[in-house]
Amino acid sequence: MAFEWKERYKLGNEEVDKQHMKLFEIGARAYELTRLDDAYDRYDDILEVLQELADYAQYHFKYEESFMEKHNFEHLPRHAKEHNYFVAKVKSILLSRDIDEEQEQTLQEITDFLSRWVSTHIMFEDRRYTVLFDKD
Ligand SMILES: [Fe+2]
Ligand SMILES: [Fe+2]
Repeated sequence: MAFEWKERYKLGNEEVDKQHMKLFEIGARAYELTRLDDAYDRYDDILEVLQELADYAQYHFKYEESFMEKHNFEHLPRHAKEHNYFVAKVKSILLSRDIDEEQEQTLQEITDFLSRWVSTHIMFEDRRYTVLFDKD
């Protein structure tokens, strides 16, 4: 299932893990909405939860980047680049697709992209800065 939280995503810092879990939680809500097979138009709910996901991701990225900045982390520029790519991609999807016309299919695509990106980013890029946790 998309946005299924796994123990191996834990990086060992309470606040960071909490934020990552929250990202997955919001993502899972978006994903579930796309799968509701009923007669209601969920367009507004779907857009709202995707916006929340984009907003919370930006909040979380800022938190990480400030933390890395505080410790003069050498990999900050490339890390921030990945964050920026994510935000730009989400924004471009939200703007370019006709979500109303193809609600289920398009949103499944979006949530698939998000869940893949978030888990890969946590496992590889975020894992690099866990060396800073001890120095904090
Ligand atoms: Fe992260
Ligand atoms: Fe990150």
